Amino acid sequence: MCGIFAYLNYRVPRTRKEIFETLIKGLQRLEYRGYDSAGVAIDGNNNEDKERFIKLVKKRGKVKALEEELYKQDDLDSKADFETHFGIAHTRWATHGVPSAINSHPQRSDKSNEFVVIHNGIITNYKDLRKFLESKGYEFESETDTETIPKLIKYMYDNRESEDTSFSALVERVIQQLEGAFALVFKSIHYPGEAVATRRGSPLLIGVRSKYKLSTDQIPVLYRTCKLINPVTFFLRTKNVKNMCNSRLKRLDSSTCLHAVGDKAVEFFFASDASAIIEHTNRVIFLEDDDIAAVTDGKLSIHRLERSASDDPSRAIQTLQMELQQIMKGNFSAFMQKEIFEQPESVVNTMRGRVNFESSTVLLGGLKDHLKEIRRCRRLIIIGCGTSYHAAVATRQVLEELTELPVMVELASDFLDRNTPVFRDDVCFFISQSGETADTLMALRYCKERRALTVGITNTVGSSISRETDCGVHINAGPEIGVASTKAYTSQFVSLVMFGLMMSEDRISLQKRRQEIISGLKSLPEMIKEVLSLDEKIHDLALELYKQRSLLVMGRGYNYATCLEGALKIKEITYMHSEGILAGELKHGPLALIDKQMPVIMVIMKDPCFTKCQNALQQVTARQGRPIILCSKEDTESSKFAYKTIELPHTVDCLQGVLSVIPLQLLSFHLAVLRGYDVDFPRNLAKSVTVE
Ligand code: F6R
Repeated sequence: MCGIFAYLNYRVPRTRKEIFETLIKGLQRLEYRGYDSAGVAIDGNNNEDKERFIKLVKKRGKVKALEEELYKQDDLDSKADFETHFGIAHTRWATHGVPSAINSHPQRSDKSNEFVVIHNGIITNYKDLRKFLESKGYEFESETDTETIPKLIKYMYDNRESEDTSFSALVERVIQQLEGAFALVFKSIHYPGEAVATRRGSPLLIGVRSKYKLSTDQIPVLYRTCKLINPVTFFLRTKNVKNMCNSRLKRLDSSTCLHAVGDKAVEFFFASDASAIIEHTNRVIFLEDDDIAAVTDGKLSIHRLERSASDDPSRAIQTLQMELQQIMKGNFSAFMQKEIFEQPESVVNTMRGRVNFESSTVLLGGLKDHLKEIRRCRRLIIIGCGTSYHAAVATRQVLEELTELPVMVELASDFLDRNTPVFRDDVCFFISQSGETADTLMALRYCKERRALTVGITNTVGSSISRETDCGVHINAGPEIGVASTKAYTSQFVSLVMFGLMMSEDRISLQKRRQEIISGLKSLPEMIKEVLSLDEKIHDLALELYKQRSLLVMGRGYNYATCLEGALKIKEITYMHSEGILAGELKHGPLALIDKQMPVIMVIMKDPCFTKCQNALQQVTARQGRPIILCSKEDTESSKFAYKTIELPHTVDCLQGVLSVIPLQLLSFHLAVLRGYDVDFPRNLAKSVTVE
């Protein structure tokens, strides 16, 4: 999916090379989202040039290719200094028009690049806008919906009533005409050193890092004593000034040093995702829909679009808790692999402070005030896409049991297509790792309009779903970078089980069952470690399977979701055909696929479906199928018929799916590596699907 990164340094001298590096690093942090081309816009003039112009460099393919292209530009002196500069950068995932340099962003207003824009989202009325602008003589060069935006702002600029019209006023006029979803960042030669950013339906945040400039009378003192080379461009963070004063300028005490801090120098980082900002600063502002944020003379101001002017425009600076190491690969060869191996810790983080193993109680802080209302509801509807939907399938049975309520599970897109009836006494859950998935977000808004109580289960603080739901649970799995979701699935699973446990706290008849599940949760991290220790065995299995074209995964009951999820993992990163089959449906069609060539994985656990799974196993072996069986350690019955077995530790039936999915995560990873594919960036897919 597209990614936005922009960097403004105000009174913080940077060479052009440093600016390139910051922009490229920002884009690299967004690479995990999936993209097909990238581009930047920077000031083309050097400091001494009178004529201002904006230079665009865009390239189809990886950010690396863009970086190489940047350094090839003869007219860009990489040593040039900029005391103040604003650069914008983007990774594009094609929606309108093929992946190409011309279609990638920044898009521009005209051949002299008077206005340039980067955009995430989709403009649904772009055809009408394009027709209008063409009728006014504006010439289009790309196939994108985005190009209407720089053209429209140029139109507004050309037709402004006063010379003093501000940059943000122009942007405000532009977004009044836009329909659809967008996060936008604008740059213009008419407003040098200024930035304007806005959003509607697509995430955008601004990181702020302050630096301080020494007052003129302090510079010579510091210069003399510290033998600083270049006092004129000497900027230091307050802390550095203080340290230097303490260690080398004995004559100045630290308060004098702090006093030495004069005009404020500041840097702003704009991004669609916190992972691009965190290494620069953890002080961020999340923009809301229809916020227009402008930086002028190093000062950030936010105001609301006129139609929502009554809203409060003040936005608090928040401190991100994310650490850079959390988003780095460590010793693993891919983020996906790292995330699979993080699961013993990520499930603990999901339960931390919520499950009290001593008193056998569960408290989800985000839901406690709504518990009464939830208990009174007519039904629970759990909505999500892909893996998040599978987490709902995986926990439906235990939720029905513990809440004693009807539970519907829904794919967000289908739920909307059907105009599903929703009532004010329904409680609707929205499961989403990113919290930005467009279909899930639309389903949320649909349910809100019908006045149902909405609950978000997300992994991304500040995401649209977490902000727009009435209440929710943050799954605390930590950033998930690999496009294929792994640790988020197991944490979503655990979160939904915790919800069931909280709902059933005062049900006498369910106490034994609750106790059993809570004990299962306690031993889950150790059991996950045990499953992960099977990695080598699973790698050997992958060596046998990686040349196959197809792989079936079969099971039922509590483990049906494992089959769906395992098959999804296999198809999305190995590009093999894979199907998750409900074993109960075998004789209604899929059995026709079985012969001795077709690889079949069967998930057979010691649970209420064990006997029925044995029947399916007989049907498969009777057709000369050679099943690879994921079974419980002590299961001697299934292994008799197996071509191969992967033996898993046994836990309570409703949690077994957390363990049984892991071998399939590992298998898909090894298969993809052996087939030579980029595990973290599967073709045609994006981490966060912000288009319907
Ligand atoms: C598969 C995968 C996708 C996502 C789906 C929903 O590995 O990652 O199927 O689960 O696109 O995304 P979220 O959970 O961010 O709403």
